[in-house]
Amino acid sequence: MPEKRAVERAATARSFEKVCRILDSHHRQPSRLIPILQEIQHEYRYLPEEVLTFVATSLGLPPARVYGVATFYAHFALEPKGKYVVRLCDGTACHVKHSTTILDALRAKLGLAGGTVTTRDMLFTVETVSCLGACGLAPVMVVNETVYGQMTPEKATAVLDEIIAKEKNESEAE
Ligand code: FES
Repeated sequence: MPEKRAVERAATARSFEKVCRILDSHHRQPSRLIPILQEIQHEYRYLPEEVLTFVATSLGLPPARVYGVATFYAHFALEPKGKYVVRLCDGTACHVKHSTTILDALRAKLGLAGGTVTTRDMLFTVETVSCLGACGLAPVMVVNETVYGQMTPEKATAVLDEIIAKEKNESEAE
């Protein structure tokens, strides 16, 4: 156990190095809080609690202010997300074209039960979003930055299969 803790501490120290670089690139200006948080989230895919406290101290801001900003904006995530964030549109145009059957298929494929949205291996997070602004392509799914239109449960699970195969090849090549 002490070894595990040492590894965790080393990982935290390393991540704070990145945070420091981001803070420095914004000259530790409190007025740059939002872009700083955006860059940190880009780096970690979410905003870890200890990092938010560290940012508050570094910028000389009350932690409540930093938490307030992080929780106010929907695009900031306070929970870790998977490497691939799958967003399924559940806006009106997509909903009437049975987006929920796609969501069910994705969750079943990934073994996500109850309120769980992220797989245990941290590879996938599955979320629903309201209108993605591409209603002509309904039902729409976005994986990280890639948009997939006219989805069916079969097509959506095939996208996951492709990603899983790609990840497997990459990990075998390492
Ligand atoms: S309702 Fe899904 S893209 Fe508009």
